[in-house]
Amino acid sequence: MSASLSAPRVGVWLVGARGSVATTVIAGCAAVTAGLHAPTGMVTETDVFTGSGLPALSSLVFGGHDTVDCPLPKRAEALAAGGVLPHGLPSAIAAELEAADREIRPGGPTPGDTRAPDELIDAFAADLRDFVRRRGLDRAVVVNVASTEPVRPGAMPPSSLYAAAALRAGCPYVNFTPSTGLHHPELTAPAESSGLPYAGRDGKTGQTLLRSVLGPMFAQRALSVRAWSGTNLLGGGDGAALADPAAAAAKNAGKERVLADTLGAAPDGETHIDDVPVLGDWKTAWDHIAFDGFLGTRMVLQTTWQGCDSALAAPLVLDLARITARAHEAGLSGPLSELGFYFKDPVGDGPSSLGEQYAALADLATRLRPLPEETR
Ligand SMILES: NC(=O)c1ccc[n+]([C@@H]2O[C@H](COP(=O)([O-])OP(=O)(O)OC[C@H]3O[C@@H](n4cnc5c(N)ncnc54)[C@H](O)[C@@H]3O)[C@@H](O)[C@H]2O)c1
Repeated sequence: MSASLSAPRVGVWLVGARGSVATTVIAGCAAVTAGLHAPTGMVTETDVFTGSGLPALSSLVFGGHDTVDCPLPKRAEALAAGGVLPHGLPSAIAAELEAADREIRPGGPTPGDTRAPDELIDAFAADLRDFVRRRGLDRAVVVNVASTEPVRPGAMPPSSLYAAAALRAGCPYVNFTPSTGLHHPELTAPAESSGLPYAGRDGKTGQTLLRSVLGPMFAQRALSVRAWSGTNLLGGGDGAALADPAAAAAKNAGKERVLADTLGAAPDGETHIDDVPVLGDWKTAWDHIAFDGFLGTRMVLQTTWQGCDSALAAPLVLDLARITARAHEAGLSGPLSELGFYFKDPVGDGPSSLGEQYAALADLATRLRPLPEETR
């Protein structure tokens, strides 16, 4: 499964590299590359990206930062035991998991870490440069899949230190979480002057994906949404992190933004997230939409989404890494608003309904096609 010597090699540097999403990304890429599973859920493997010059899955090299040291093969076994990864997959791709495990460096700040923010940024950037140099990569994309941070004003949170390190090391950046990342005021100017493409925030994988389809439907049919209420039940590391109301606030802001953007104004109603550890990575998201029809007739739509969070997220992370790497190679810079299809709270100015976002993505896929003189 090795790429040809001349094929560009692209690094995917995962912040939160030992988490459920990251482990599923690494295991999933190896499984698809080896022909063990179909690339279900990967938009970059559909016809719309034919000829866009995306890096092959076999050319992706994984590494990253994490603050825990559980080996990736062990993490993958735990995910297989929970039904997130197919049984037998971790042993079938043990070599790929071990190779990625060797490229994971200690993240930070850990309790008692006395390094100043700039020292941490320098250390993270040095790890990135070392990865690119040692592995002979053409470029590396940094993707944040670490635990959601609580929203707290003031000093740069860890996600912003990693985003600053990506800029310092000359790497495109994708924020798959609702954490601050590049959205910190101190990073606005460096991001603009870096000449690098970036994308985010917070992958749109379940409840919000549905909202970005249903919101425009109500608006286009001139039905009046009176209240939109939602509840999410989930476990795993994400469920535990989101049990902190300050972390849940960041997540819910993105979910509610989709409604305000697609309906024209935020409807009544709240979104809640409950940690139910026994559910592990399996999420239930329930939406209750109270709306008025002709002559004020009151009606209700209820939806129940039951999904495996990491299996929904991983193909999108692979898509984003490939598209952002190609955008960097093609010389694109700044916010990639065409990637709004993937996010709850997209960077830049773009449409908010899923259909229009898909059209913008397809347009980007066309623009990424290598020019005849571009030799690959
Ligand atoms: N469908 C989805 O799964 C989905 C959708 C949208 C967004 N997300 C986001 O993706 C992220 C990852 O989700 P998950 O289920 O893999 O969570 P997880 O708890 O399994 O993994 C998070 C990882 O981040 C690591 N981490 C925490 N702080 C860190 C730091 N300072 N530096 C480096 N690593 C650190 C943790 O040790 C852990 O290994 C979450 O923020 C989640 O909200 C997930």
